[in-house]
Amino acid sequence: MNILACVDRLERERDLSDAEFAALIKCEDPEALEYLFARARAVRDAQYGRKVYIRGLIEYSNYCKNDCLYCGIRRSNRGAERYRLSEGQILDCCRAGYALGFRTFVLQGGEDPYFTDERAVSIVSAIRREFPDCAITLSMGERGRESFQRLFDAGANRYLLRHETADCAHYAQLHPAELTLAHRVQCLRDLKSIGYQTGTGMMVGSPFQTADCLVRDLRFIQELQPQMVGIGPFIPHHDTPFARYPAGTARQTLTLLAMLRLMLPCALLPATTALGTIDGDGREKGMNAGCNVVMPNLSPRDCRSKYLLYDNKIATGDEAAESLNSLKKRMERAGYEIVTDRGDYRDA
Ligand code: 5AD
Repeated sequence: MNILACVDRLERERDLSDAEFAALIKCEDPEALEYLFARARAVRDAQYGRKVYIRGLIEYSNYCKNDCLYCGIRRSNRGAERYRLSEGQILDCCRAGYALGFRTFVLQGGEDPYFTDERAVSIVSAIRREFPDCAITLSMGERGRESFQRLFDAGANRYLLRHETADCAHYAQLHPAELTLAHRVQCLRDLKSIGYQTGTGMMVGSPFQTADCLVRDLRFIQELQPQMVGIGPFIPHHDTPFARYPAGTARQTLTLLAMLRLMLPCALLPATTALGTIDGDGREKGMNAGCNVVMPNLSPRDCRSKYLLYDNKIATGDEAAESLNSLKKRMERAGYEIVTDRGDYRDA
């Protein structure tokens, strides 16, 4: 198969056959990959230029009622030291973030039943009142449609809910039986139809994942047409059933990011923390593969080490919101400019 021709056609038609998708996903030829990344950069540059949008990540709770096999804050991990932030603490994070130049706040947490609709609506309303010029992104897991609607009406604009894998059998290998791909997908459709800018995504290299699973992920994303796609390598966590499985690779993550850029030219694509964790230059490499978002950590310092989805998760240094200046310099050296902007989705 001629990989360069596939890249060109993916850019032109935003689509390939399953076999061509799989061939690109598996490609390890450095020259072909460099070409893929160059086309992804060109498409990103045409849409968004060299601007990098920043999102302040507030990890508000690591309590979780779910027991996903890969995740370090799964409910049966007795080793996790649990915390949750109060509304006041969350607002303080937003204030610190605003002063640093953040205009999007991402509230991410485990599925913590403490955050009833009433409490979550109160938090979103308070942020909306105090920061009318900012976008509020929620990443609070699966909820009912009514709940999504109430949060939207309270002022939330965006929602991140990775589908994790679009292959039913694979989904069942990563999750306990009470969690289903069908319900996950229902949530995503509800979010989109309510009017959220919606993000989905998957882990790359998770246990039992095959190239076929990834092809399904691409097909699912193609069909959903999300505004954002978050993908990062799977990284084992020592207190989970997947402790001994190998991590996903930066190369495969970058390949998928670049393919997604060609498929969804307007998408907001973060260079994720997980990518920065397995590769010290992960964020820059992500930008060079077509990303246009980074999500520094705005959580209170003493919580960061507790929100451990996987081992060695970076939360200090350039990953910390306070180090924005050094992240800015790094990005500038790589040819990018961090901007103070909500960075909303823009259609072509
Ligand atoms: N490795 C990489 N990513 C993980 N996530 C959860 N656990 C891990 C892990 N071990 C990701 C999931 C989730 C997001 C918040 O973090 O994809 O959606």
